[in-house]
Amino acid sequence: MLEITLEVNGTSYKVDVEPNWTLLRVIRDVLKLKGTKCGCATGDCGACKVLLDGAAVNSCTVLARNAVGKKITTIEGLSQGGELHPIQQAFVEAGAIQCGFCTPGMIITAKALLDRNPDPTEAEIRAALDNNLCRCTGYVKIVAAIQLAAARLRGENPLSPLLPGERDRDISVVGQQSGQVEAWAGLKPLNWQPGPEGTLAGGQPTGPGGLEEWPTGSAPGDQQQAGPSGLPDGGAGLRQVGKPTPLKDAAAKATGRLTYVGDMELPHMLHGKILFSPVPHARIKSIDTSAAEALPGVRAVATYLNSPRVAYNSALRYSGHNIPRNEYIFDEKVRFIGDRVAAVAADDEETAARALKLIKVEYEELPAVFDPEEALKPGAPEIHPGGNLAATVKAEAGDVAGAMATADLVFTDRITTPRVTHAAIELHACLAEYSNGKLTVWSANQNIFATRLILAEVLGLPLNKVRVIKPPVGGAFGGKLEAVLEPVAALLALKTGRPVRLELTRREVMVSTRTRYAAVFYLKTGLKRDGTIVAQEIKAVMDKGAYATSALNVTSAMNDKAFKLYRIPNLRITALPVYTNNPIGGAMRGYGSPQLMAAREMHLDHIARALGRDPVDFRRQNLVRPGDINPRFNKTLGNCRPLDCLEEGAARFGWEEKRRRPKDTGRYRRGIGVASGNHGTGVFGVHVDLTTVALKMNEDGSCTLFTGNQDLGQGSSTALSLIAAEVLGLELDQVEVVEADTELTSWDVGTYASRVTWVGGNAAKKAAEKVREQLLEEAARLLAEPAGELELGGGYVYVRKNPVKRVSLGEIVIAAQQGPDQREIKAYESYHSVFGPGSYAADFAEVEVDTETGAVRVLNFVAAHDVGRAINPLQVAGQIEGGIQMGLGYGLSEELQIDPATGRVLNPSLKKYHLFKAADMPHIDVILVEKGEEHGPFGAKSIGEAATVAVAPAVVNAVADALGLEFNDLPVTPEKILTALGKQV
Ligand code: FES
Repeated sequence: MLEITLEVNGTSYKVDVEPNWTLLRVIRDVLKLKGTKCGCATGDCGACKVLLDGAAVNSCTVLARNAVGKKITTIEGLSQGGELHPIQQAFVEAGAIQCGFCTPGMIITAKALLDRNPDPTEAEIRAALDNNLCRCTGYVKIVAAIQLAAARLRGENPLSPLLPGERDRDISVVGQQSGQVEAWAGLKPLNWQPGPEGTLAGGQPTGPGGLEEWPTGSAPGDQQQAGPSGLPDGGAGLRQVGKPTPLKDAAAKATGRLTYVGDMELPHMLHGKILFSPVPHARIKSIDTSAAEALPGVRAVATYLNSPRVAYNSALRYSGHNIPRNEYIFDEKVRFIGDRVAAVAADDEETAARALKLIKVEYEELPAVFDPEEALKPGAPEIHPGGNLAATVKAEAGDVAGAMATADLVFTDRITTPRVTHAAIELHACLAEYSNGKLTVWSANQNIFATRLILAEVLGLPLNKVRVIKPPVGGAFGGKLEAVLEPVAALLALKTGRPVRLELTRREVMVSTRTRYAAVFYLKTGLKRDGTIVAQEIKAVMDKGAYATSALNVTSAMNDKAFKLYRIPNLRITALPVYTNNPIGGAMRGYGSPQLMAAREMHLDHIARALGRDPVDFRRQNLVRPGDINPRFNKTLGNCRPLDCLEEGAARFGWEEKRRRPKDTGRYRRGIGVASGNHGTGVFGVHVDLTTVALKMNEDGSCTLFTGNQDLGQGSSTALSLIAAEVLGLELDQVEVVEADTELTSWDVGTYASRVTWVGGNAAKKAAEKVREQLLEEAARLLAEPAGELELGGGYVYVRKNPVKRVSLGEIVIAAQQGPDQREIKAYESYHSVFGPGSYAADFAEVEVDTETGAVRVLNFVAAHDVGRAINPLQVAGQIEGGIQMGLGYGLSEELQIDPATGRVLNPSLKKYHLFKAADMPHIDVILVEKGEEHGPFGAKSIGEAATVAVAPAVVNAVADALGLEFNDLPVTPEKILTALGKQV
């Protein structure tokens, strides 16, 4: 150990360090300044930036001893006297903060930039952010925040983007703003007949349909409908809903004060490490842990020999969920490179890592298979008993064979989509403690109740002895939906009786957790000569990887989406999730939709090109209209607005003008592309879609809302607060949210499937309406006026005709507590979805392709989204912008590459895995189509996943347009472009 002195945030600290300790380690683990985050420890993500003599550096790449004599500033050193630094303030106001995990690093980089260049151009800002990755925001609002801060620091007085009228200039809203759901044909009986476009083949069974026939799913009186918008006053004058609002915890994120699970420490805490398999398929012949156990500081070693032999499925949703269970905490077989072999709990990470090296494992290697189509062939190595086909998941409508046989034209394609990683900047981590017979797990997890269920079943504990708490999450995108680390950490906690924190490295996250399924699509489409689609058949071979997990869930969800975008009366989709010895395919933003949309939208562009049709016009002809019938179920699609998205997006993009532009013939060639897309809103019709909100008023008129919905950084708690505040006439700060604790909040089925605003928002609205009723009742007693004469707003209940006669909400609450009934003003309301409308998108991309290098520059991107109503437009736009970043990578640069001979991941680092950076991003225009959805809270429907589903095909179609070529394999990298151009790679 060396003793060194570090000057951090103006204070000198004497610390003992090992020579190889990084500055990041000392800042976080010795000085306990946890605002500096670790997202990779390899200098690739920028989450750990600090200022070193004014320069922004990755503290994970600087040895602590080399920082001696330098001025170190961490995020904690920026705000003074409790006031946010102007850069922090700008990040909050501009909506630049979602999960917040990248935020401290971003702000530090911005500080260094603005100190040396007070008036940077946008390009200079983006260049300065070259070493800072964000997975949530698409960088749009981060750049805007830095511009805002720069102007203020120069002494200018730019208006806050949150002021009325200063709403983000790149966001436009189309639709009504009054809270009304726009009238649409679907509100009438829905025996849809061919419209003027005549695009559905005559004589198709439209069947009975209509809202009247929808199951209401609610007990009588379960829902309160006070007006078409659901607003108590019928929709006039929304105060909170629709107002651009920073996340409630944005300031805590901007200052680094928010505690993520990797920041947590408990007394006597141990550190866990996992030994991962180095071989793709093997039986463990022997495993000797004696040397590891003998190492001082090691407290437990777990293997299949001393852990529960209880099979589970990490994608379990709820009790009784019928899905295949073929995972164990540890098994005597390993099935991919990255499979779990053993785990160690030790006093510190170094000891745990040393212990892993002392575990001797003898493997009997088995034949392996890495290609899902090969895995289906007779004689392929069998990964699980019963064969490699995990399931055949089929969905069908109409007579596909008959319609295909009579189609005028038939087109076919084979299109592949890649395996990608979620790349949330926060690493996977959890902390488990077993004390007094009770297990408590803190986990950055998307489904705490399912995790509790898995832990209870696997470890043999009653549910009331397992508590799962979700601390703030630094991005998830589906990657934290399945219980991956929790069973291991919990087992180690049980074995040691001490808290155990388990945190993966970036490499481990990329190799051993979950990925988006790679897929091979076979598409066949039959059309009339006029371009009307009459039949489609899709077969998808999905690379499931080594375990079942979400094999049924993802494929079923994908299939479901196929029927909701185009008027295709005869459609069959068959998904084949196939076991391979590859990393596990699991949930990822879009849950099958991005694969399907990419393949189908590229296929449709191929058809449009072959027919000589404008791709926009071809889609216009075939897209569904409001009130159309889903041919699979003969049920309404609701107020679906893909056509509005297409028209509005095309107009904003300048599609017509750009299409008329002469084709480039030189080295640089521009092209344009479009894609439509859809995703669901909740899981209605698939499985239980229930949540419960408790709301209680406090004696000062504020309230506390308890929800099992899990905010993953996308802002769901803020959205629920806005809804409650709207109904109760409160300010946002007057609604406090307690979320996601299996012991404090009610059961919920998890944060996925874009369900929280829809289901949780309705539950929050319902609870707030119940509370409102009670406030009015109590006020009527106090004011001696009929409740019907009273109004609620501004923290008071007042007499409508005589507003000076009023009583504050706090007085009402106290009067209720101390009055004749001695009651609390509270509500506990459940809501389950009664409908699952689609969210729709049309994305437009303009690119420039360098035919010498194959490099693609995305110049402009327009994303038009049918969101029903944006509860918080700032965050809705932020979700869309982040979805564009993810989708552009899916289309052009991201792929978790697997060595076809060994199954090894070839690029398990953020350096080699190419996320779009700030400088790579195009100019983005967001259009929100707000035409309301009948059962949505204030007309809202989802955005989280729809944000990304159509991005990749739009940009790939643009590349194809630029070059006059077809591409069938994502991502379309420079190498593939050069190959397609017949050039040397
Ligand atoms: Fe940037 Fe989440 S806000 S990674």
